[in-house]
Amino acid sequence: MTHLDKTRFAHRHLLDIARLNAAEIKFLLDVAEGYVSKSRARDKKLSLLHGRTQINLFFENSTRTRTSFELAGKRLGADVINMSVSSSSVKKGETLIDTAMTLNAMHPDVLVIRHSDSGAPHLLAQKVDCAVINAGDGSHEHPTQALLDALTIRNRKGRLQGLIVAICGDILNSRVARSNIALLNIMGARVRVVGPTTLIPSNAKALGVEVYHSMKEGLKDADIVMMLRLQTERMQGAFVPSVREYFHLFGLDQNKLKVAKPDALIMHPGPMNRGVEIDSEIADDLNISAISEQVEMGVAVRMACLDVLTRGDAE
Ligand code: CP
Repeated sequence: MTHLDKTRFAHRHLLDIARLNAAEIKFLLDVAEGYVSKSRARDKKLSLLHGRTQINLFFENSTRTRTSFELAGKRLGADVINMSVSSSSVKKGETLIDTAMTLNAMHPDVLVIRHSDSGAPHLLAQKVDCAVINAGDGSHEHPTQALLDALTIRNRKGRLQGLIVAICGDILNSRVARSNIALLNIMGARVRVVGPTTLIPSNAKALGVEVYHSMKEGLKDADIVMMLRLQTERMQGAFVPSVREYFHLFGLDQNKLKVAKPDALIMHPGPMNRGVEIDSEIADDLNISAISEQVEMGVAVRMACLDVLTRGDAE
């Protein structure tokens, strides 16, 4: 992939899905699709971002997102720096903004940030001269996760339009749910959320979804079943009576899956809690589970986002 029509994505940052339109989402997915085969090739290295500097700034733990952003930048030829927050001056009391201004003075081309506070990447974007990518902010958004999920669905089902997508579990605390709801609605899918009353936002219907509190009803005829973990790090107090009861009512197993379409695809953004929101038998069944493919698409989608936001106009 060499030519990139940057007029098709008129944003300086990638902060959330909500401000993108269908054509921009399709453009990012199309660019990402071009990177899937490159990541599968023996020689994975390009020089499209040669001379560019990418700083990954993760204030929250991550396996998939941080690693795939690092791989994505390196595969495109950028210089990638992972700032270790635990050994940085943040631990001496330096604020997010002062940290950002310090990094900004080193002239990066892109900052990739994950933070426990909703809106932190938006604040950063107002202060720095480079592109900012939101790698997950509090319970607000995780835009690259929704894009990689969309690419996975498009690869498997050939489209997003008209599909019934059931997003199940802890919707209330999930930035993945929020980004996916936004993206799937923009792309014309029919979105359902399924979970206990305590884990569904009170304004869920205003987000443009159908709300279900029973897996049997919520999964009926679903094309995609997307499971989410209980985000205990964002909960104050118990939102479910017990893990055992939660699995009994909302954990995905063969029995609950029976009502979905026969070719329903199972997805999970990870990290997974086996035996809590999903049974291992389902998670590991490669005929129905796209969980590994989601991780693979994550690298391609992040390559696309870095490319679109940081490659120079003349290239
Ligand atoms: N899905 C996701 O964001 O995973 P990590 O927390 O491991 O990055």
